[in-house]
Amino acid sequence: MPNELSGKPVSLELNRVCKTLIADYQLKPCMVLIQVGEDPASSFYVQSIINSGTKLGCECRLHTLAADTSEDVLLELIETANNDDSINGIMIQKPLPRQISDSRINLAVSPNKDLDCLHPTNLGKIMMELEGFLPCTPAAVYYCMQYYGIDPLGKNLVVLGRSNVVGKPLANMLLWKKAFANATVTVCHSQTRNLSMITSQADILVTAIGKANFVSAEMIKENSILLDVGINEVKDGSGASLYVGDVDYKSCYDKALAITPVPGGIGRITTSVLYLNLLKATLLQQGQNKSIDEYIALIFSAKRKEY
Ligand SMILES: NC(=O)c1ccc[n+]([C@@H]2O[C@H](COP(=O)([O-])OP(=O)(O)OC[C@H]3O[C@@H](n4cnc5c(N)ncnc54)[C@H](OP(=O)(O)O)[C@@H]3O)[C@@H](O)[C@H]2O)c1
Repeated sequence: MPNELSGKPVSLELNRVCKTLIADYQLKPCMVLIQVGEDPASSFYVQSIINSGTKLGCECRLHTLAADTSEDVLLELIETANNDDSINGIMIQKPLPRQISDSRINLAVSPNKDLDCLHPTNLGKIMMELEGFLPCTPAAVYYCMQYYGIDPLGKNLVVLGRSNVVGKPLANMLLWKKAFANATVTVCHSQTRNLSMITSQADILVTAIGKANFVSAEMIKENSILLDVGINEVKDGSGASLYVGDVDYKSCYDKALAITPVPGGIGRITTSVLYLNLLKATLLQQGQNKSIDEYIALIFSAKRKEY
């Protein structure tokens, strides 16, 4: 295993899976992407999703709504997309403006088209270990471990952060009784006491707290594996923006066995997972019961023999 766990080869491999399935099943996947407001960071991310989709052969229909759009208007648009057979998946760019409730929107998206995997039905399936969509960022961590052969079976795995988008679903996935799971999971949050004591016992530490360079070398175990989900904007000496993770990469690099970089680590994999979810939705709607996750497990297992 390399010391730096780049997300690039993982995302390239997942993209290859997407292209193969699209060709084999002659699919024309189509998603609707809804952005409310024109926050520059969101617009940048949305554009990169559209570009990736074009390269993969997926159609991406973008709806950009004004920042003061009411919740009812957004709900109506979602309902139209739910009922349109030419649309296989729906993604709503977050954060949403204050007048719109995240949880009402998550509930409104059809569970069969829920590319973000935020509908309670799909989150429940994760807890019950049932096949279905995977939330993009937790799945990026899971596929990264699979690709690099990091098996958490029986290991102390600490997740920093308990959000509904990252920490909670990821902790549940790592408890699954299947390959590349079966971990002994501890979840920490802002109210956790003696945090360093817990993190310094982690064989694998996943950080998702949104605090730049928060985890220092003193907080980690020797030869542990660090998977950094955090993406935090900081300013350099000249005032220019740059992005760093929740882990202080420089101070932890030598002590850790392996570490994901930011940028270019877990974040690099998430868009590929979004398109895997679109393929899952498309196959499901065509009545195909192909298990994409089993297919990926096979391909990654062959790939690991190369190290
Ligand atoms: N790579 C990607 O594609 C991707 C996708 C999504 C998010 N992210 C990044 O991942 C990070 C987390 O995102 P999120 O949406 O999960 O954030 P979030 O909703 O703000 O949740 C942050 C979590 O961290 C916990 N926390 C905050 N400060 C802490 C501290 N000092 N010690 C321990 N726990 C602390 C919070 O605890 P409480 O629950 O007690 O408040 C909360 O559970 C962000 O940097 C975000 O940009 C990356």
